[in-house]
Formats: sequence, structure tokens, C-alpha cells
Amino acid sequence: MLVLGIESSCDETAAAVVADGERILSAVVASQVLTHERYGGVVPELASREHLRRIAPVVDEACHRAAVTPREVDGLAVTEGPGLIGSLLVGVVYAKALARALGKPVVGVNHLEGHIQAVWLTNKVARQNDASVEAASFPNVTLVVSGGHTVLYRVEIESGEAGSGVPRFRYSRLGQTRDDAAGEAFDKVAKLLALGYPGGPIIDRLAPHGKAAAVDFGRIRMKGNPLDFSFSGIKTAVLYRVRGSALAAEAEDRGRWQADLRAGGQRPGPDQIREHCSRETLDLVASFQNAVVSDLVERTLAAAESEGVASVGVSGGVACNSQLRRSFAAAAQRQGFGVFFPSPALSTDNAAMIAAAGYFKLAAGERADPTLTAHASLPLGVKAAA
Ligand code: KG4
Ligand code: ZN
Repeated sequence: MLVLGIESSCDETAAAVVADGERILSAVVASQVLTHERYGGVVPELASREHLRRIAPVVDEACHRAAVTPREVDGLAVTEGPGLIGSLLVGVVYAKALARALGKPVVGVNHLEGHIQAVWLTNKVARQNDASVEAASFPNVTLVVSGGHTVLYRVEIESGEAGSGVPRFRYSRLGQTRDDAAGEAFDKVAKLLALGYPGGPIIDRLAPHGKAAAVDFGRIRMKGNPLDFSFSGIKTAVLYRVRGSALAAEAEDRGRWQADLRAGGQRPGPDQIREHCSRETLDLVASFQNAVVSDLVERTLAAAESEGVASVGVSGGVACNSQLRRSFAAAAQRQGFGVFFPSPALSTDNAAMIAAAGYFKLAAGERADPTLTAHASLPLGVKAAA
């Protein structure tokens, strides 16, 4: 079964063709980084306009690279939420119109389910009721950690209707951030220090050059559900250290230098940025990353422990972080369970993950009705009982 996936929930316009929910024939992502860079964050109005400009060429390109015509796909899957409403609407309206013109079924997919399925799209374990692999990997705890989300899920797999061979996934929310998403904290700290945009990948590259133990941010304490997250405190702690100090003046200089480069049509690379950072800035960045990564790993492992699961998945943009990958791998080895990541390209927003998640729905006979629309807020799964 060939599924055309479409994703436009934030600042990437993406389309992909995936066969049987596991073989990626094409995956095209048009990034809007250059549009939003000068603002240090995504500007919703500009994002919608960019999606509108890019969606048709991106879908054409995905079909072209997969060497299929839209008529040859068996169904469409589109992100219906959560995300920026104007951005989502572009993808949903386009997918509905295309499905209607082609006479093909379409399903709406939750963006978070897409991120979770990206783990299995990369690691190819949840396919076709392969009982041995399923038994080894499910139930599972998956952390979705990105610029918009930080959520822990318990993921269960049920065999589909007798003989259908299509597994069904069940998700329950174990915990989530009460304020900023982890990626948002990376981006805001990078903006405060004028390191560049988006902040996560830059901090990832700078952190190894600083001392992670230089600043002690303390452990993040949560009242109530210990599997919830909070990153606004640490972001504010960074702000207080910077405000009125030499670090602030340094950041201002760095900001001017970057703006001048941009005006000349250039983008500084990570090495150039590092040369414009003092030891204190690099230490602060390393300590910040260390505190966030430690917290993510610790809570995810606590969830794995209390849920008694066999494996852990980590997905979303922040799952690209090198220290995060290393820490999870080391902890998993120590504690004896499997840890699975999508490839970096499938960790950040993409449409292959939407096509994969949509495949399971389409194969199980699910169809969206003509009222399919976009939802800025759209929780995935049920909240786990306390
Ligand atoms: O999944 P994604 O592409 O979009 C959302 O659904 O939010 O994630 C983007 C986020 C941004 O906040 C970005 O700074 C962060 O992921 N990110 C990283 C890294 N690469 C991307 N954060 C830390 N380390 C990275 N290497
Ligand atoms: Zn995402």
C-alpha cells in the first residue's frame, strides 16, 4: 500500500511516499529556517504563507522522487494537529482537495503519533505482526521531545482484527511539560545568548567546548506527577546569570556580528560562532544542555522502570542531540533495555512519519469524513491513571 504523507504543522512543508508503512520511497522537506531566522523564532503568519507557496511543488517533488503519479498512491495521510492553525490548514485543505480529485481515501494524523511512529519507521520492528519483535519491544515508553512538545507515552500494540495483519497502537500519556518544551528552552537560551537560530543544533555543537559542571542548576523538582517536566525555571536561571553581566554585552556584540553577516547574505557556521564565544558562555551553554538532558533521561528511565517496559523510544527534534543520544544509550545499557531513536532526518518534522502513522489507520479501514479539519491543540491518547 502506497501512502502519500503531508506535514505542515509548524515551519517545515513536507511530503513523502511510504510503502506499507515501512519503506520510504521519497521524503521531501522544505525548511523555512531562512524566513524565520532573523526573528529568532517561527512567525506564524509568515509560516502559513510559505506553506501555501511550497505545498504543491513539495508534493510534486515527493511523487517525482518516488517515481509514482498521485493516481498510483492508495491513500493520503495529513497532519491534523497539534500545531499552528494557519500552517495546519494549508496541509489539511490541500490533502482533502487532492484526495477528492483523485478519488482516494484520506486520514488525519496526530503530529505526536507521527513522531512516535518515526521510531519504528527507522527501526522497523513493528511490522506485519512479527510476534517475536513485538514481544521484545512492546509495551514501550516513548519520549517525544521537540520545539513544541515534551511528552512521555506508554505505547502498546494490539494485533489487528483477526487475520488483518495490521497492528493497532494504543497510547497513554504518562507525563508532559507544564510550561516550555525542551526544544523551546534550547531555542530561547540560544536567542538570549545570540548564538543563532534554531538554537538546539547550535548548542549541541558548542556544548562539548564548555564545562558541563561549571554551573550547577540543581535538579528540576516536580510537585505532583514526577513524570511531568518543567524547563521554564532553568531558562529563567540562565536569563538571571546573563542579565546585566559581561555575558549580556558579549551576546549583544555577537548578535550585531550575526546580523551584519546575514545582511551580506552569509550564515556563520558553528565553528565561527564558537570563535565569537567566551569560555564563560561556552561553560553556561554546556551546563544548560547537561541539566536538560539529565532531566529528560532521568524521567524517561523512571517511567520505563515504573511501567516495567522492555524498550524506550526517543523522538522529536531534540532527539537529534548528541549528548542526549549518548546518555540514553549508556543508561539503557546499564539498566538492560533497548533504546530506539529515529534517524536524525526522521527525528525532526517530516512527512514520512505521517505517512507511516497513516498507513496503520488506512490499512485498518479508517477514513476521514469531509469535515476533517485542523486542530491547534489535539492531545494524543488517554491520560494515564495516577
Ligand atoms: O520536531 P521538530 O522539528 O519540530 C517540532 O515539532 O517542534 O523539533 C524542532 C526543535 C527545535 O526546538 C530545535 O532547536 C530542536 O528541535 N533541535 C535540537 C537539536 N536539533 C533540533 N535540540 C537540541 N539538540 C539538537 N541537536
Ligand atoms: Zn514535531
